[in-house]
Amino acid sequence: MSAKIIDGKSVSAAVKAKVASEASQIKEKLGIDIGLAVVIVGNDPASRIYVNNKKKACELCGFKSFEFAMPEETTQDQLLELIDKLNGDKNVNGILVQLPLPKHLDEKSVINRIRPEKDVDAFHPVNVGKIMIGDYSFLPCTPAGVMELIASTGTDISGKECVVVGRSNIVGKPMAMLLLHKHGTVSICHSRTKDLAEVCRRADILVAAVGKARLITEDMVKDGAVVIDVGMNRMENGKLCGDVDFDGVSEKASFITPVPGGVGPMTIAMLMKNTLTAAKLQNSID
Ligand code: GUN
Repeated sequence: MSAKIIDGKSVSAAVKAKVASEASQIKEKLGIDIGLAVVIVGNDPASRIYVNNKKKACELCGFKSFEFAMPEETTQDQLLELIDKLNGDKNVNGILVQLPLPKHLDEKSVINRIRPEKDVDAFHPVNVGKIMIGDYSFLPCTPAGVMELIASTGTDISGKECVVVGRSNIVGKPMAMLLLHKHGTVSICHSRTKDLAEVCRRADILVAAVGKARLITEDMVKDGAVVIDVGMNRMENGKLCGDVDFDGVSEKASFITPVPGGVGPMTIAMLMKNTLTAAKLQNSID
């Protein structure tokens, strides 16, 4: 079998187009501008690229974006003070603090300070808890993007064997929850899993999110599986490489995402969707 390639750029463009159309209706009918505040601390080059892409997506969706670029030596108190200000600012519907923060700052207390209603990353414990019980307004961006990609293949998750490789708070754990809410039979693998290949071979839907280049090889994949690669590993030659050995696995899978151009573009599209949701909730719009 030769897998069909899932085009994350086109699925992402469709999500953003829908968000843009709703945003323009809200502006027209109610005169409300939707605003996202993006906070970046320090000079991490990858973070700078992500933040620029988020600003571009805001423009595309007709949102206002407010960037707060703070120096590396920013103190915890200064950052918390900014969060407090944004929490109280009516023009700001969503707040995103780009991670990772410089080492001297405490990420957890920064995330906890964001009002859950404005936490468009869905990282605040209140939002994480809501995801657990299936009662949520904000989607965890990357896992929600993966769900859109799976939906784009026409695959029904109900009753399927789903294997998530990786157990991070940002991807693996919420990913497993979203698949479970769609009635998948979900396994989560990690570094202590005894026989990773054996568990992966059970998967009808395999999601790799560990950050190890080409960890998932052809022999670990069932014929006809849907394979989603969340990995973004920067190689020595500067190129991006996923957690899945794309060339080998394409021979076995029915659908596969490329890196780049698969999950990556979806994360920002889902962030835009969350910002729209935040604005709707804050203005009591259905
Ligand atoms: N750094 C890498 N991915 C993310 C993300 O999804 N949100 C934030 N805030 N920071 C990130």
